[in-house]
Amino acid sequence: MAMEKTIFLESVEATNHLGEKISHLLKPGDLFYFRGDLGSGKTACVRAIMKGLGFNGRVKSPTYILFEQYELSLTINHFDLYRFKSSQEWEDAGFSEFINGHSVTIIEWPEMASKILPKPDLYFHFFHHNDMSRNLKITSQSKRGDECIDCLG
Ligand SMILES: Nc1ncnc2c1ncn2[C@@H]1O[C@H](COP(=O)(O)OP(=O)(O)OP(=O)(O)O)[C@@H](O)[C@H]1O
Ligand SMILES: [Mg+2]
Repeated sequence: MAMEKTIFLESVEATNHLGEKISHLLKPGDLFYFRGDLGSGKTACVRAIMKGLGFNGRVKSPTYILFEQYELSLTINHFDLYRFKSSQEWEDAGFSEFINGHSVTIIEWPEMASKILPKPDLYFHFFHHNDMSRNLKITSQSKRGDECIDCLG
């Protein structure tokens, strides 16, 4: 049965703290989908994860470039499918090979390729609360996802 947890992200600092926590539990093969409206905090959370992994460079929002790969202690694939017009673009771009047991993959706007993408370990759904705060609902879709949820308080 899918496990679920809702976390109140009172400020950007809370999102940064969560991202750091997530960075410590990542394992090769993890597949996370980040959903939520524009500006709801998906990229902010990815940036915090990267920082937690020791990355000091700039994490671009991949909205226009679709994909960025980071070779850190782990390989992180960061996608943003906002500009996709159909699921087929995922296959056409050859992106499916990036979801593998060796790297961590985080996809913003996975609903734009929902027909083709495999089930993730975790869904992160970000909701606007107010200017400073967000709600985050995390839902697990696998045993590995359950394990991650247990570690996120
Ligand atoms: N508690 C919070 N957590 C995260 N971001 C917050 C929070 N409160 C305010 N913000 C602001 O909300 C914005 C989130 O932008 P971000 O680029 O992360 O959104 P996104 O979900 O990736 O949007 P898009 O769908 O356009 O990619 C940032 O400007 C950030 O400063
Ligand atoms: Mg984004």
